[in-house]
Amino acid sequence: MRALGNSVVTLCLSLLSFGHIQAKPDLKWWQTTIVYQIYPRSFKDSDGDGVGDLKGIISKLDHFVYLGVQAIWLSPFYKSPNKDFGYDISNHTDVDPLFGDLDDVTELIEECHKRDIKVIIDFVPNHTSDLHPWFQASIKKQEPYTDFYVWTDGKTGPDGARTKPNNWLGVFGGEVWKWNDERKQFYYHAFVEEQPDLNYRNPKVVDEMNKVIDFWMKMGVDGIRVDAITNLIETEDIFQDEPRSYKPGVPPFQYEYLDHIYTSNLPEIRGAIRGWRNVMDKHSQKDGLERFMVVEFYDTPEKRNAYLDYGVHLPFNFDLIEPIGIRPESGGRQIRDLVDIEYANLPQNSWPNFVMGNHDRKRITKKRGARAANAFNMLLLTLKGTPTTYYGEEIGMEEIHVSFEDTQDPWGLNYGKERYEEFSRDPCRSPLQWNDGYQSGFTTANKPWLPVHPNYKTLNIQTQMASNDLSPIQLYSQLARLRQEPSFQYGDLFYSVVNDNIFSYVRQTEGQPQYLVTINFGKSKSIDDYTSSVNGREGKVIAHTGNFNEQNMKIDLSKIVLKPDQGLVLEVLSNKDEL
Ligand code: NOJ
Ligand code: MG
Repeated sequence: MRALGNSVVTLCLSLLSFGHIQAKPDLKWWQTTIVYQIYPRSFKDSDGDGVGDLKGIISKLDHFVYLGVQAIWLSPFYKSPNKDFGYDISNHTDVDPLFGDLDDVTELIEECHKRDIKVIIDFVPNHTSDLHPWFQASIKKQEPYTDFYVWTDGKTGPDGARTKPNNWLGVFGGEVWKWNDERKQFYYHAFVEEQPDLNYRNPKVVDEMNKVIDFWMKMGVDGIRVDAITNLIETEDIFQDEPRSYKPGVPPFQYEYLDHIYTSNLPEIRGAIRGWRNVMDKHSQKDGLERFMVVEFYDTPEKRNAYLDYGVHLPFNFDLIEPIGIRPESGGRQIRDLVDIEYANLPQNSWPNFVMGNHDRKRITKKRGARAANAFNMLLLTLKGTPTTYYGEEIGMEEIHVSFEDTQDPWGLNYGKERYEEFSRDPCRSPLQWNDGYQSGFTTANKPWLPVHPNYKTLNIQTQMASNDLSPIQLYSQLARLRQEPSFQYGDLFYSVVNDNIFSYVRQTEGQPQYLVTINFGKSKSIDDYTSSVNGREGKVIAHTGNFNEQNMKIDLSKIVLKPDQGLVLEVLSNKDEL
């Protein structure tokens, strides 16, 4: 597939190319939209308690219209004791009073649909809260809940005391077996101890979780993001230790210390996914609208793509995040290589996707500085495939600093004062900065759940929208519209100049303008000749990251000059046009 002349690479991908005539593919809604992740606690607070809520989101839907986003994914808003900020659910079919109530969800869905915005919710199948009635009944061995969770007597120690059955480690580090004094057994928890794992070897659990999906489909949601799919099922014989991974520098407490052959990505997961797909498809049959399923999965492309056969539309592609991911020093060639992992491994008839950040990982600006926001949004929004934007990326939001004493995230706290900053997710979860007013317009409370970043006076949505100079949000909204062009929406992608600084590519489809996207991800000015990979010698500037004198001008494609963090989208003027 590679090497078509000078560093030009062709990507055939899944699109039909019959000779020269390219048919417009029948794209589904989740292929043409940007997915925007809302972390409800941090988006907009309507009632002054310092925590974002559903009414807050409803009051801000025009933000998505401005941005050009047609699908939002909401992290959990269900009833929860909030030990893991909503990912510990005590009632799957009700809303936590912090966020509102079911009527608010109905209103949110209606208001989104009026604006042509799809609503994707978080589905957390692996575990519940320990305060979920199922777990409380399970402790008491009340049927049918006795085997709803992964219970064991463990082993018998030399002194006759019960000891845990194996050496498994939690995703947040440390112990996964918790002794319950009432039931006199251990239960398994892959995350915090207040998140007991459900037992998917029990068909009743499978049924109950299918009903949860059915409930939300009836409420009118358009899709689900499945949480922690990797951890769904454990080996049947739990009296087996997991082997060491021998990853360098990883202490015995840390999840990566072991190779998770008995707890991660087991084949039985596929059956569960099939079941969820069937529930969703029943709803699609009624109205012909596809219900979207994206799964959270941090692993190799081969492993994530294997899920596509069982009803998943997109396994989140986290290659830009890890295991290598975008680093402070990644230049053009390295970023091309990260992008290429997705394209090179994608099975026939599958659709690519890209993610730069989420509520669990460092923001892109943390790694590359605020100045790079435009360059990375340009990348994300002009690649081929569905992009996911984490709230705040549209304005280049930066991470806050949180002291150990003020840290809330259990993952950070688990690692103690020495290492908490490596793991704590608080810094990337600070309130969205709406304006330069009190608490950046996020809340009227004097103490939001996490502090607003002190840079909000200048870095906020309102200021950026009104700015006379091109701002990140303005560029974002331009690019979101540009994505609607056939060349970007479904056209092919060919790599053009790729070097230490530059990553560039051509987007094109038959009968449509040819576009060149070029971005300098390096540390020095770059002057490059692109003419061998495009059908012309000149390009018209369609979008740029700012600080360009050449605006509205034609650019000579044989010597484009780009400084670090600068990028351009050019329409290639064909040789014919120039005559
Ligand atoms: C992945 C979620 O994204 C994360 O926030 C959560 O802590 C774990 N799964 C457990 O649900
Ligand atoms: Mg609130």
